[in-house]
Amino acid sequence: MQEQKKLKEISLFLADEDATVALAQQLAPMLTGTHPAFAGQAPGGRIHLKGDLGAGKTSFARALLRACGVAGRIKSPSYALLESYKLFNLYCYHLDFYRLSDPREWLDAGFREILQKEAIILIEWPEQAGATLPPPDLEIHLVYADAGRQAHLTAYSNKGTSWLTTLVLPQQEYPPQDFPGDA
Ligand SMILES: Nc1ncnc2c1ncn2[C@@H]1O[C@H](COP(=O)(O)OP(=O)(O)O)[C@@H](O)[C@H]1O
Ligand SMILES: [Mg+2]
Repeated sequence: MQEQKKLKEISLFLADEDATVALAQQLAPMLTGTHPAFAGQAPGGRIHLKGDLGAGKTSFARALLRACGVAGRIKSPSYALLESYKLFNLYCYHLDFYRLSDPREWLDAGFREILQKEAIILIEWPEQAGATLPPPDLEIHLVYADAGRQAHLTAYSNKGTSWLTTLVLPQQEYPPQDFPGDA
């Protein structure tokens, strides 16, 4: 991938699929612009989803698209490479590059045009596209952790940074400190 500058990082534990869905549901209104903090700003944004098979990339993408207002079946794009949806005024593109055999394939397939648009773009396995893929607003790396997942969120743009700043994090992010003498 192109030179990437990390602007902000957050790590949080997602105990079960509900927690993954809850994270997606928080981000969705920030991407569609219905969140009050993002009123008047251009909607859309790009999220890269990294992690091993079964880590929850599609679960997250599905929950985000659903929370953005996509109705009907949301298929995994693992075979078609791309599934697209049109919301009232916004396109959503869900891509999965797992099966890309050559990084140039996604350019040939015309996907590059998609990146120019004001749209919601979710990409699973972005590393498969190689250096030609520009950095996202936000990268979410899901890692197996016990029965749940650890989510590492990294913002690469001001937009992604404002999403992370606006997230209301579960209390686990702020474990109560032990006070000396409490024992
Ligand atoms: N935070 C979580 N903790 C435990 N299991 C999860 C979590 N999020 C999703 N899952 C489960 O893990 C699996 C993820 O599958 P999927 O979303 O297809 O993964 P990927 O797209 O990364 O290959 C699903 O069975 C889902 O129910
Ligand atoms: Mg998947």
